[in-house]
Amino acid sequence: MIIVKDLQFSYENQPKIEIPEIELKLGEELLILGKSGSGKTTLLNILGGLLAPKKGEVIIDGTSLYQLKEDELDKFRGRNIGIVFQKPHLLKPLTVAENVGLPYFFSNNLSANKVQYYLDQLGLQNKQSARIHTLSEGEAQRVSIARALINGPKIILADEPTASLDDENARLVVELLKGQAKKLGAALIIVTHDHRIKDKVVQSITLNSSDQ
Ligand SMILES: Nc1ncnc2c1ncn2[C@@H]1O[C@H](COP(=O)(O)OP(=O)(O)OP(=O)(O)O)[C@@H](O)[C@H]1O
Ligand SMILES: [Mg+2]
Repeated sequence: MIIVKDLQFSYENQPKIEIPEIELKLGEELLILGKSGSGKTTLLNILGGLLAPKKGEVIIDGTSLYQLKEDELDKFRGRNIGIVFQKPHLLKPLTVAENVGLPYFFSNNLSANKVQYYLDQLGLQNKQSARIHTLSEGEAQRVSIARALINGPKIILADEPTASLDDENARLVVELLKGQAKKLGAALIIVTHDHRIKDKVVQSITLNSSDQ
């Protein structure tokens, strides 16, 4: 379960982002809509343990993220949170399969089957040995989704996962995120300005940043 309470954040001279409350149980999904610059990526970074808010709390399964020490937070994030970043941030020297397996870099218990399973799920079964620079944008996006899902997170956070996709692939990616969230019993939060997916997700809120 993810609980957000009384969250506030602003960069210097930027409008304030305020989220009074979010409560999402495992298996539930939420779409956060907002226009460009409204603070969606900023909010996602806060929810994902990457950026401390000025005020308020993010509580995942009873753990308040920003009360953890830095190394504890890193571990907690690795175990519990899967983030699909707006820019895929894939490592160019590695293959597709190696990128997908990255969350397991420091442990030895990743099976090749698991990587293959997620590649299959995302329609990347023939791309496992491909180099990152040879992928289309949509394929790179799907690799980053596989990487976010592979360690079975409790919370999946996705930043504009459909931005570079046509209608058909946008629908597939949303269905896939929802399906995987259900399978993993994870809460799913998607932030986007893509109104095409508004009615594909059960609950939605709109981010209105206010001038300070
Ligand atoms: N590191 C930073 N320092 C200062 N201002 C920042 C920083 N990062 C983002 N901002 C500003 O904060 C605001 C929100 O940015 P953010 O990236 O969260 O928007 P967004 O809703 O994700 O936009 P988009 O839809 O274009 O991705 C923007 O006005 C941006 O210029
Ligand atoms: Mg953004």
